[in-house]
Parts: sequence; structure tokens; C-alpha cells
Amino acid sequence: MKNRTSTSLTRLRRLLPMGLLAAWIAVPAHAQDAFLQLGEKLATQGDCVACHTAPGGKPFAGGLAIHSPLGTIYSSNITPSKTAGIGNYSLQQFAAAVREGVRGDGAHLYPAMPYTSYAKITDQDMAALYAYFMKGVKPVDAKATPTALPFPFNIRLSMAFWNAIYLDRKPLQAAPGMSADAARGQYLGIALEHCDTCHTPRDFMMGEKSGQALAGASLGTWYAPNITSDPVSGIGGWSVDELVSYLKTGQAPGKAQAAGPMQEAIDHSLRHLDDQDLRDIALWLKSTSPVRDPADSKPAFAWGQVNDQLATIRGQALPDDKNAMSGPQLYDAYCSSCHRPAGEGSGDGLPSLFHNTTLGHDTADNVVMAMLNGVDRGGYSENVLMPAFGGNLSDAQITTLANFLLKSWGRPDVQVSQARVAELRAGGAPSPLLSLARYGMIAGGIVVLLLIAMLARRRRR
Ligand code: HEC
Ligand code: HEC
Ligand code: HEC
Repeated sequence: MKNRTSTSLTRLRRLLPMGLLAAWIAVPAHAQDAFLQLGEKLATQGDCVACHTAPGGKPFAGGLAIHSPLGTIYSSNITPSKTAGIGNYSLQQFAAAVREGVRGDGAHLYPAMPYTSYAKITDQDMAALYAYFMKGVKPVDAKATPTALPFPFNIRLSMAFWNAIYLDRKPLQAAPGMSADAARGQYLGIALEHCDTCHTPRDFMMGEKSGQALAGASLGTWYAPNITSDPVSGIGGWSVDELVSYLKTGQAPGKAQAAGPMQEAIDHSLRHLDDQDLRDIALWLKSTSPVRDPADSKPAFAWGQVNDQLATIRGQALPDDKNAMSGPQLYDAYCSSCHRPAGEGSGDGLPSLFHNTTLGHDTADNVVMAMLNGVDRGGYSENVLMPAFGGNLSDAQITTLANFLLKSWGRPDVQVSQARVAELRAGGAPSPLLSLARYGMIAGGIVVLLLIAMLARRRRR
């Protein structure tokens, strides 16, 4: 039975380019089911639903607003609707959209659709994904909000230049000595889960910097830390089990918790993977090339210890100006009930503030983001709720608190300015590309700029 299914699957994949219907009729029902299941699993691993579903909207019907430094980009309806979705896409058109960022009508997609990662998806997996989107997803006939970026980014053709530089269709290579499991983890991590789109730093044109894979990057607001195998700057000091626990539940006690975009990656995708998949991803992370930041002197999880500062404020009156409250006063009023006076948290889901990577990285951005937005992780692990303090606390108060936290339990040489807190509250730093454009640079200028960068890059090879 198993053999018959796999022979039929091979046949199905071979026939698909001729048209889904013809291919479908040619194979028995059990092979169709197996193929759809594979496609559904790949869609979960690729996290398609996260971006292609608006809050409260139908799955895959698009319309989610993605705030990029270039402006708001809306995701497309990728249900098989013939009027509003991709119901008329052939396998080739679908593959071109997902792997090359070229839409059915020939227009270029913005890289908010992570096609540079999906470029590594194999032909076999692509055929299964296509079958799932055509046969396994319910059509939704409502059009998604169209994207209208400011000039010059509304010229989609400029993406062709971006692609010429950054789109790499070469299949993934396993590094010498990498185990088969780790190589599978690499495929999952790069082609489908696109860990690199967040964790690899980008250059001024938003392309991933080569040689810096997974070395840590700012997403404008949140900071996606270094997750290379380096024992000081990366995750070299984490065990495979701790990594699996983090990717599955968002918690690795004594190391870190996932908030913000990482929490979303877990919510939508990672927690649905098999343990074997997660283990393979962890093995891959442990075998990546280490990247060390010379400014790091010990692992992010190794900073701080039990430290109770609240005795210093006993009997002290609160200042009339709330913005003048001291770090310990603010901590006492807003945080100590959960994280405890000495910062040790409590076993059942309230994390300690020492031995917590959030306070051990060389940027305070995530400390500030956690306070502004809170942490609210799905219904799958217990007691994971930290209220958002963005409404209660001013920029001055958040600055005082963050710096107090870093000095008391984290990396004391890292501090944050009130200007940065205000910037994070407003949604992060604007893109240098956008600033250039705002200063009157015309599209032609951008294109020339892109060309120059492309030539410079070619010459360096
Ligand atoms: C990080 C967000 C994100 C993820 C994850 C994502 N997409 Fe997209 N996708 C987008 C955005 C945004 C667009 C529209 C871009 C544009 O208009 O230029 C898009 C466009 C598309 C299109 C083009 C449809 C059209 O005609 O406009 C297809 C097909 C597509 N995505 C399929 C997928 C599949 C399949 C997956 C999962 C394997 C996936 N996407 C995952 C953000 C995402
Ligand atoms: C959408 C962006 C995004 C994607 C995709 C993403 N991450 Fe993350 N990741 C983050 C952010 C942001 C943090 C910091 C979260 C925090 O501190 O609460 C993080 C934290 C982590 C950490 C903890 C590191 C530390 O020092 O605390 C690990 C490990 C990690 N990610 C692994 C992965 C892996 C493996 C993948 C792919 C399977 C992945 N991430 C995909 C954004 C992302
Ligand atoms: C109601 C309980 C509660 C209160 C009050 C609270 N926290 Fe939290 N805090 C949590 C929980 C729960 C988490 C997340 C645990 C997890 O993700 O597993 C968390 C996580 C954090 C993190 C790590 C976030 C990350 O990205 O990993 C920081 C930093 C933090 N809290 C600081 C504070 C500060 C500062 C205050 C006071 C302004 C505060 N907390 C108030 C419950 C609380």
C-alpha cells in the first residue's frame, strides 16, 4: 500500500505540469490524500497562513497589513478563488510567485513575501503545495486590499533589480560534516521557516548580508538575536533540548522566552511541527558557522543574579512628577508582583529577569518592546501573560525602568535613551532607502543606485 502510494505520488508530480485536473484523475484517491497532506504540512512549515490571513479574516484570503519600512504592503488572497485569488494559476505560475516573486500577471512581488527563502523549495514540495492550495483550501471570493506604496516603490519593476542581486535559486548545500538530520533542519529552517529573513542582518538595500548568516538583526523594532553556533554571541551554550523547548513552547527556563515576532513564528508555525522536525532544526543551529561579536564577553543568558533593590526605597515618598520616579519605585509599582522583588520570578511561567537573554543582548530594544507590547502567547502554554505597559508608562518611565533592569539583572554596559524608546513606540527607525527617496531622489536614482551596488558586489566575487 505504502509503495503503491509513493509510485502514484511520483506519477502525480510528473503529471502536474500538464494541469492539475488531468494529473488528479490519473492517480488513485489514497495518493491524492497523501499528496494533499504533504502540501498542508509544507504550508504549515512555510507559515503561509500567518501573512495571508487578516485579523478575523478567512484563512489565506489575504489583506493582512504588513508595515515595511517602505510603506504598508497588503498580502494577497491565495485561496483558489478564480475571481479574487489564485484559482487561475498554473503550477508554473504558482512556482514563479513563490520561488521567484513573479505574480501570475508578470508583475514583481515585494520581498515582504519571503520568496528569497522559498526559492530553495524543491520541485517535488512545490507540486504538493500547489495541489494543497488548489484542492485543500476553500476559495474566498473577496479581493484583498491592494498595496499602494509611495513613489518610487510603487514601481514594481525596481524589484527586478533587487532580485538580480539577491535572488539565489541554487539548491541548499549541506556544509562539510553536517549530518543528514542537520541538513534536513537546514532545509526546514531556511526554505520553509525562513529563520534567516529575521535573524540575518541586511545591508542598506535590505538584502541579507553574506557571511553574516543568522548573526542577529534589527527588525526595526524587535531585535532578532544571533542564533549561530557561537558559544558567546550565539546559541552555542544552549542544549538541543533547550532549543527544542524554546521552538515548541516559547520557553527555555534559565535562558529565554519568545515574545513579539518570534512568538508569532511559534504560534503560527513552529509549535505545529513534529518533535523530529524541531530537533533537526536545533541540530542545524548547533552546526552553523559561528559568528562572534567582539563586544560580547559572555553569553546573553549568563548575565545577572538575584538582586533586591526595593529596601532602598522603603519610607521614601513618591515624587509629584511621575516621570521622576526612580527605577526601584517603578519596578515596585508595576513589575515586582510578577517578577518578584529580587527578579527571580516564579517557577510557574513567570520568568526570572537574570539569566534571561532579553536583558543580556547588546541592545535594549527587546526589553523596551516587551514593556510596550506585553507578552501574550496563545492558549498552548500556561500563565503566559504579561500586560502591555505602553498605555500606562511614559517614554521617560520606560527608559528609567529599562536601564534599571539592565543595571540590576542584565548587561550593565547596555543602556537605552529616551529618544530610542520614543522611536520604538512609533514603530522603529525608517529605512535609509526611504529617507533617500523622501529627500527627492527619483526612481531613476534608486535604479542607478541599485545597479552600482550590483556591480560592486559582482566585482567583489
Ligand atoms: C512574511 C509574510 C508572508 C509569508 C510567510 C508568505 N507570504 Fe505570500 N505574499 C506575502 C505578501 C505581502 C504578498 C503580496 C506582495 C505584493 O503584493 O507584492 C504575497 C504574495 C503571494 C503570492 C502572489 C499572489 C498574487 O497573485 O498576488 C502567492 C502565490 C503567495 N504569496 C504564496 C505564498 C505561499 C504558498 C506561502 C507559504 C509557503 C506564502 N505566500 C507565505 C507575504 C507572505
Ligand atoms: C519573524 C521574525 C522571526 C523569525 C521568522 C524567526 N525568529 Fe527567532 N527570534 C525573533 C525575535 C524578534 C527574537 C527575540 C524574541 C524575544 O526576545 O522575545 C527571536 C529569538 C530567537 C531565539 C532566542 C535567542 C535568544 O538569544 O534569546 C532563538 C533560538 C530563535 N529565535 C530561533 C529561531 C529559529 C530556529 C527560527 C526558524 C525556525 C526563527 N527563530 C525564526 C524573530 C524571528
Ligand atoms: C502579570 C504578571 C507580569 C507583570 C506585572 C510583569 N510581567 Fe514581565 N513577564 C511576565 C510574563 C508571563 C512574561 C513572559 C514569560 C514567557 O514568555 O514565557 C514576562 C516577560 C518579561 C520580559 C522578557 C520578555 C521577552 O522578550 O522575552 C521582560 C524583560 C519583562 N517581562 C519585564 C517586565 C517589566 C519591566 C515589568 C514592569 C513594567 C513587567 N515585566 C511586569 C509577567 C509579568
